[in-house]
Amino acid sequence: MTSIVLFGPPGAGKGTQAARITDSTGLPQVSTGDMLRAAVKNGTETGMAAKQYMDAGQLVPDSIIIDLIKERVLEKDAQNGLMFDGFPRTVPQAEALAEITEVSHVISIEVPDERIVERICGRYSCASCGAVYHDTFNPTSTEGVCDQCGSKEMKRRADDNESTVLQRLGAYHEQTSPLADWYDAKGIFHRIDGDRDIDQITVDILQALE
Ligand code: AP5
Repeated sequence: MTSIVLFGPPGAGKGTQAARITDSTGLPQVSTGDMLRAAVKNGTETGMAAKQYMDAGQLVPDSIIIDLIKERVLEKDAQNGLMFDGFPRTVPQAEALAEITEVSHVISIEVPDERIVERICGRYSCASCGAVYHDTFNPTSTEGVCDQCGSKEMKRRADDNESTVLQRLGAYHEQTSPLADWYDAKGIFHRIDGDRDIDQITVDILQALE
């Protein structure tokens, strides 16, 4: 089992790129953010424990996240590896992951802080299939209609507001960015300029994965 990690600040484009490279990698996307939002929506114990942290723009405690991942890797589609999006975010999470699977590449999508708020505050997604769009940078071809599945129901995330984004960015710099050195020391850390056209970034990621 060999996995890859998509790494970067909130709004860097991890989810956008994961959706584009999943066919090429053959690895299922695992977004801890999506898993937590589903748990909150379903009112599970995990969801109830995580909600207060997510609403405040803070990281959810490692023990909760690591338990989620340990469960996820037992699923049948995880046998050949997974593409992690937004996990790990702390050194203890990375250490736990190393015990579960080999990580061949960590793709770091790098975007300056000043771009993050505009990216996140303009984000919306399809309520049906989850495809991600942006009011200005990546709108649907027909207003209000999902390009992927044709659904006309779009949604915005509760934590996509300016004050929570700034908290999330703070958590990224304090708790997640130290992981860059941790993975760099292992020789598997690939920096990709994420402040460019979405297609160009996809090309560079696929090249880094070759
Ligand atoms: P999570 O859902 O993982 O949020 P995040 O890391 O903040 O990342 P985002 O999903 O906001 O951004 P993204 O990089 O996927 O960007 P996207 O492609 O959507 O986590 C939410 C919360 O859950 C956390 O705050 C925390 O509380 C908790 N959590 C989750 N995982 C955790 C963990 N492992 N440990 C602890 N807590 C955890 O793009 C953003 C927008 O920009 C879109 O509108 C898109 O269309 C647009 N866009 C994308 N690329 C470009 C481009 N190149 N140019 C212009 N616009 C672009």
